[in-house]
Amino acid sequence: MEKHYAVIGDPIEHSYSPGMHNAGYDSLGIDAVYHRFQVRSDRLAEAVEGLCALGFAGWNVTLPHKESIIAHLDVLTPQALRAGAVNTVKIHEGKKIGHNTDGDGFIRSIEGDLQSMAGKKAVLLGAGGAAKGIALALAERGMQIHILNRTPEKAMELAHIVRELGEKGSWGSFEPGPWLKDVDLLVQTTSLSLHEGPFPFTLAGISRQALVVDIIVKARETAFLEEARKQGCRTFGGMDMLLYQGALAWEFWLGGQAPIEAMRKGLKDQLLQQMFYKG
Ligand code: ATR
Repeated sequence: MEKHYAVIGDPIEHSYSPGMHNAGYDSLGIDAVYHRFQVRSDRLAEAVEGLCALGFAGWNVTLPHKESIIAHLDVLTPQALRAGAVNTVKIHEGKKIGHNTDGDGFIRSIEGDLQSMAGKKAVLLGAGGAAKGIALALAERGMQIHILNRTPEKAMELAHIVRELGEKGSWGSFEPGPWLKDVDLLVQTTSLSLHEGPFPFTLAGISRQALVVDIIVKARETAFLEEARKQGCRTFGGMDMLLYQGALAWEFWLGGQAPIEAMRKGLKDQLLQQMFYKG
């Protein structure tokens, strides 16, 4: 019988997940369809009931529902509990199980480039929901975390959470500093990369060893990554994180190994199309 999956969020029209998952189903001949639905915050409870009533096998959850969905679920996995947020729901024996693949998806996307993370230094730009998931996943692998945010109080709160996990957590304001010269992994999580225009500060003096990641998914290189590449660093954008969080959600729903290359192609085709049509 045909299975149905979806992503719910608001806004949702720019989501790349349907193209990525449907390309994966096609490559393996799986009888399933992945949809996308715009769900307003005040209709979330009804949407969850509706998805269950319609027999959906599972769904992804994106902004702004990653935390508020928890009140509508029956069980949380350790990853969802740790993050305090859910991006994947599976219906299992009539129960709604909440899971989170964002943190582990990020780790999978960088581990080929950054072997042995323990003891190495990560600097995160931003202290919102995305930064939290990444900070916890990196701290769990023993990295030292330095968080820089426009509102330093929020960076301090996140650094305290890292310390509670027994790892080194520190914070600072959103500007260049001595951290540049010994950073191993620099991750840009703020919404700045969504906008046009130059990145507000230079990365001059950054360690050439640094791996630099911008988690924003865009067809073109972000101003931040362009700056890092000009300084001689290895860089990559948010596509890999999106790919691996999707692959882990697939494996949570269907078991086995997700068809990574088909899903990657499904994603790339959409990005190329966007670049072609929107310049
Ligand atoms: P998400 O859950 O996707 O991480 P968020 O919680 O809204 O989104 O977080 C957005 C992040 O981008 C925050 O760290 C925010 O900084 P503040 O905590 O000071 O608001 C950061 N941000 C947004 N616009 C910014 C700007 N113009 N300059 C610097 N940081 C910015």
